[in-house]
Amino acid sequence: MNVIVKLVFYLTQIWFFLCFMLFTALHVIDGTVLGGTAILPCHVTNINDDLTQITWQRKTRENPHNDNFITIQPRNGLQFVNGRDDRFKYIGNFNNRNGTLQLSNVALKDEGSYTCIFTLFPSGNQKIEIPLNLLVPPFTSVMDNLPTLGTEEVLFATCTAAGSKPPAEVRWLTDALGDKVRTTKNSTQYDNGTTTTVSSLFGVPTRKINGHQVQCVISGDSLSAEETLAFTIQVYSISEDSFECVTEANPNSLLESAVKVDGANLQLLSLTSDLNGLYQCEASNAYGSKHGQLYVHVTSGTCRVAWALFLVLLSLNVGAAAWYFYKSGRFKRYFEQ
Ligand SMILES: *[C@@H]1O[C@H](CO)[C@@H](O)[C@H](O)[C@H]1NC(C)=O
Repeated sequence: MNVIVKLVFYLTQIWFFLCFMLFTALHVIDGTVLGGTAILPCHVTNINDDLTQITWQRKTRENPHNDNFITIQPRNGLQFVNGRDDRFKYIGNFNNRNGTLQLSNVALKDEGSYTCIFTLFPSGNQKIEIPLNLLVPPFTSVMDNLPTLGTEEVLFATCTAAGSKPPAEVRWLTDALGDKVRTTKNSTQYDNGTTTTVSSLFGVPTRKINGHQVQCVISGDSLSAEETLAFTIQVYSISEDSFECVTEANPNSLLESAVKVDGANLQLLSLTSDLNGLYQCEASNAYGSKHGQLYVHVTSGTCRVAWALFLVLLSLNVGAAAWYFYKSGRFKRYFEQ
């Protein structure tokens, strides 16, 4: 008998342990994600009283006073008190004393406290309060600060988790670089309840640190999984009015007087062979970045004149040939066939 009691005891222990493991491993998002559907559950059990009406009140950022906004009666069903909002749907059952609402396409303005009130006779009102908290996943990005070769500490890059609720955790993984880099953290909270967290990476922009890979890791309750953004520290060098990658062997110096950046366009103001080289364009948004490349090759001045002359002669030749072709009547014959 004693053995069986012990066995049952141990089995229950194992069962609880397994349940606990499963619960912690799943990292369930227990909140409504922005744009998702929320259920506002409401149910009473006193079956001896008469139920005449279920009233819903809400207190949100938009309506800071507890206002009635929905009434439910057995005859009329759901009615809006102050303007219709079709995102709310009554999914309860009046006879079962169930006033549950469903709210679809949840926005930040819906966050707050919802109260359902059962008007019961003869016992009076019974209230249930339900909080509605939203989860807003952040927009994540890493921005390169384009550091130039030097001996003083500068900002290499910033990693941003924008507009998260609750706030996201942002950190840099720079293990291989040890104390050669330093990070700082900064966060801003907005009126709508979201927070932007930024972590900055600093270091001395040497040739040695150039090309090192680091990672920015973003985590938090609003994300179902950690997000890792890779970043390569790229150090540039500035020599007399030129700007170039330290690692690039290509002669891709951009003479400041010869190029003009106009929005997303790079204008080559004078076509000289100084501008020859590989041009790379990076377009990035919250979801990643794409590169585009263009190889520019401008032949030297005298050569250009020769090319221009050649082109003029070529077009003259083509023109003359066409004229001859037309005059000889072959055109006409060709079309009359
Ligand atoms: C919250 O407010 C910030 C700052 O005004 C804005 O950039 C962001 O888009 C807002 N978030 C939502 C989900 O409305």
